[in-house]
Amino acid sequence: MLSFLLLLVAFPGKALATRESSMQLLQHKMVLSGPRELRLEKAEPLDWLHFPKCGSSLINALVHLPGVCPLLGDLTLDEELLGPCWLEVFGLDYCVKLCQEEKFSCPRNTSLPHHPMVNFSAQKGHLVGMFRDPDQRILSGYHDDFNNFAAVDYIDHLEDMISDPDLDMENCTASLRGLPKVPILEFAEGWKGGMTYQLVTEHPTTQTLDPMRPRMTQADAEEAARRVREGFAFVGITEEWDLSMCLLHKMFGGACKASDFENANPSYPGKSAELDYDTSELRGWHDDVDEVVYAAALDVFRQNLIAYNVSHETCSECYRSAGRASSFEESSRKHNLSSL
Ligand SMILES: *[C@@H]1O[C@H](CO)[C@@H](O)[C@H](O)[C@H]1NC(C)=O
Ligand SMILES: *[C@@H]1O[C@H](CO)[C@@H](O)[C@H](O)[C@H]1NC(C)=O
Ligand SMILES: *[C@@H]1O[C@H](CO)[C@@H](O)[C@H](O)[C@H]1NC(C)=O
Ligand SMILES: *[C@@H]1O[C@H](CO)[C@@H](O)[C@H](O)[C@H]1NC(C)=O
Ligand SMILES: *[C@@H]1O[C@H](CO)[C@@H](O)[C@H](O)[C@H]1NC(C)=O
Repeated sequence: MLSFLLLLVAFPGKALATRESSMQLLQHKMVLSGPRELRLEKAEPLDWLHFPKCGSSLINALVHLPGVCPLLGDLTLDEELLGPCWLEVFGLDYCVKLCQEEKFSCPRNTSLPHHPMVNFSAQKGHLVGMFRDPDQRILSGYHDDFNNFAAVDYIDHLEDMISDPDLDMENCTASLRGLPKVPILEFAEGWKGGMTYQLVTEHPTTQTLDPMRPRMTQADAEEAARRVREGFAFVGITEEWDLSMCLLHKMFGGACKASDFENANPSYPGKSAELDYDTSELRGWHDDVDEVVYAAALDVFRQNLIAYNVSHETCSECYRSAGRASSFEESSRKHNLSSL
């Protein structure tokens, strides 16, 4: 006791830090066999259904969950580490080496950059994903000059790139860059119902980015929405990135990290998921198929925010440990949950 007091007098900050770290150690020990670990275990192997333009950066939050990819350590997957095609390179060359097979489903076929469901009844309960307002997702896809999804004859270029055995992963989609784009409404029709398509199509080699893929109906959207409600261990909302990352950790444990919040694939420098595109560009056109899926995702998300007591207030510790002290103020200015 005396020595503690002496320490307190001499190094007040240090004593506090010591006490805090032993508290953290204690909490850490309790957490090891706590509900978060069990929940994570139950969700494994995590199976990421990655819809284009909904946030590639989710990968960093997933691979850094406790025990998922132990050999990766603290490294952040991004362009700096693996080049412009970082996500494909990770999937092709590193995922199975660094991640535990029973904890994370590595992409089965990197020729399918946004693979669909493979077998819902087998994947049910393991699925994780980010969902985005469908019209925003489409506008983001259209304005993504790096991937140039809207290039004329996009699918032919994609297939050429994929079938080229010398595909230079360093240059990635370079051959698409600068090509002229189709008109925006033609692109929008091609991407309409895209989240639905990935959710309901169980064909192992379907190229979901093909604008000529089958059209989705309202019935498909209803089935896709059911899968979102019943099959996902984690549902995040791109527009609510910060709350989504905080929720992920409240559900599955692990500390929030700066890399959870890094936008690894902005459509243009400085673009963030919280900035909305001007939908007037779509002149009244609207994706009323994926709207059904997005509404289901919002429902699940909101319910989980309540169930796990997640709000910008209760996330302040998460934001702090990720070095985002100002996030609460920024986010609360732009959004609030009643406007979601
Ligand atoms: C899909 O998964 C279920 C449950 O694991 C399994 O019984 C079924 O055979 C699988 N279907 C196909 C086509 O692989
Ligand atoms: C990548 O593409 C650019 C432009 O097309 C080219 O100048 C560069 O040499 C390429 N890099 C590699 C490593 O092939
Ligand atoms: C990967 O998908 C492509 C279609 O893009 C298909 O031709 C190929 O057979 C698939 N490979 C495997 C191993 O499933
Ligand atoms: C939610 O978190 C706040 C802040 O830590 C706490 O005061 C409140 O009691 C919690 N509510 C529930 C339902 O756990
Ligand atoms: C939250 O959004 C609702 C609906 O858009 C709005 O009426 C309210 O003023 C907003 N609250 C804050 C604090 O911005």
